[in-house]
Formats: sequence, C-alpha cells, structure tokens
Amino acid sequence: MSIPVIVDCDPGHDDAVALWLAAGHPALDLLAVTTVGGNVPLEHTSRNARIVLSVAGVEGVPVAAGAAGPLARELVTAEWIHGANGLGGPELPEPTIPLDPRPAAELMADTLEASAEPVAIIATGPITNVAVLLRDRPDLAPRIREIVWMGGSTERGNATPYAEFNALVDPEALALVLSSGIRFTMVGLNVTHLALVTPSVRAGLAAAGTRTAAFGDELLDFFCRTNAEVFGMPDGPLHDPVAVAVLADPGCVRLRRTRLDVELAGTETLGATSVDFDGMLGREPNAWVAVDLDVERFWAGVVDAVSRLA
Ligand code: BDR
Ligand code: CA
Repeated sequence: MSIPVIVDCDPGHDDAVALWLAAGHPALDLLAVTTVGGNVPLEHTSRNARIVLSVAGVEGVPVAAGAAGPLARELVTAEWIHGANGLGGPELPEPTIPLDPRPAAELMADTLEASAEPVAIIATGPITNVAVLLRDRPDLAPRIREIVWMGGSTERGNATPYAEFNALVDPEALALVLSSGIRFTMVGLNVTHLALVTPSVRAGLAAAGTRTAAFGDELLDFFCRTNAEVFGMPDGPLHDPVAVAVLADPGCVRLRRTRLDVELAGTETLGATSVDFDGMLGREPNAWVAVDLDVERFWAGVVDAVSRLA
C-alpha cells in the first residue's frame, strides 16, 4: 500500500528532485502538488513545478498555486542559489501541464476530502500554504496523516547565522503548523547537509539515462556551482528530497522526538528553530526531528525513482 501525499514546494533545484522522488517512488502516491513563493516568486515556482512534472512525464497530478508570500512578512527569495527563474541551468521547456485554477489551500482541501485515507503533506518551502489550510479548514486536520517539512536545523542557519531559509521566510506559518497537534517532522540542515551532490552521485543519476536524469544533471551542475560560490560547498546539499525520503523509505532517515519551537521575535535570531533535545524548557515534545541519514540508501532511492520516470 502506497502512502497518499501532497507535495507543497517552491522549485527550486532540490524541490525538483523532491517532486521526482515523490512521483517515481513506488511507496508514495502523489495526489497533488501545490506551490508557494519562496526560492523565487510564485509565478516562477508555479511554472517550474509544472515543467518539472512535464519533463518527467507525470500526468494526472493537479498543480495549484498558493501564497505569493508569507503570512505576515515580505517575501525573501534565493535567486543567488537557484537563478533568476528558480531553475537555473537547463533551457526550460514549456510545461504541458496546466495550472489548476483552484488556490493551493483549496486543492489541498479537496484532495484531503476525496481521499479514502489520511494524506501526508510534504512541504519543501516556506510552510505558508499548509498554515493557510490549517487556519481556514481546521476541520480537515484528521484527514492529514502527518506533515513532513524540509526546513530549520538543530544547529545553525544558511540564510542568517541562526535561521534556515524556509524557516526564516515564514516563521509565523511554522509556528501555526506546530501548534496544530498534527504529527510533524522537521528535516533540517543538520541532516540535509549529508545529502551532498558529489561527482559520483551525479554520475549515478546521469546513468539512469532518462530524459528526467539528463534534465536533472543540468540542474545539479548549476546548483553545485552556486553552492560552491555562495557556501564554498561544490558538492551542493540537496535538501528537499530528504523530506520525501522520510515517508518513501523510513529506514533511511533517523528521527528523534523532541520539543520544537521557532523564534518569532529575535533581533538576530528570527526564524531560528529551537530544538530542545534535553528537555531544558520542560515543555511537552511536539515534533519529530531528523538526526541522521543513510546516505547511500537515500541516493539509491532517488536514482531508482528517476529511472522510473520519462
Ligand atoms: C531550503 O531552501 C531552499 O533554497 C531549498 O529549496 C530548500 O527548501 C534549504 O534551506
Ligand atoms: Ca525548497
């Protein structure tokens, strides 16, 4: 039995591979894709999601656009990593998949209501759309199996010294989602920095020989170059697919139960995730946090998924 999932994303190079892992992995049933303004503005992320699925030959999965920006702040973007259009590198084809006219939260709600069993939401961008859904349709919480989010860190940040990008962009949305009581897993930089796009990872992916693999190789070439320039990491960390792997192959990612909060008011620490492994705050645990990754198994799953696509 596969797990029904919605992927909420802001493609983005690593979001692209996350979509392919979700679409190609036999353990997952991708029901819908929603987009959010994040790495680049919403018009690009919405087009990019459709391009990424079109290249992979994925059909019958609706794609809807959601929030253009965070709940309570101005959007911060990340063109310096992902390029002006969010998918720097390859020449982008026209998407063959239309944009669903529904707002993202409405598509999510319809998908949850139509599914015979609770649906998991995998969020790989600022978590605004999920917050909007929970704010406007709290009655649907029992229809959500769990939420897995790429963002935050048990350590330091990548957008500011203390904040990871997705957490920094919409910390209020993260706080709202955390307060929902729905099972929540944070997949942060402490683990995604193990998912490095080494030359041998690239060779393995390219060897899949599919159209998707060839397009992906061009994406990864660009992504590794910008990560080398910006972070001094020529083997760029491919964050977002790790969140998909949590559901696709649970043995691949080790989780720990803990208290998780997010900084909403810091002068230097806005968006920092507070992970209280030692229970110092005396608060009830409210989340699972990824603490380790079986790197080889993870990449084998990605290559296998990409091999199954066009
Ligand atoms: C996260 O920020 C974005 O740039 C990536 O797509 C990923 O979701 C990593 O901090
Ligand atoms: Ca992302």
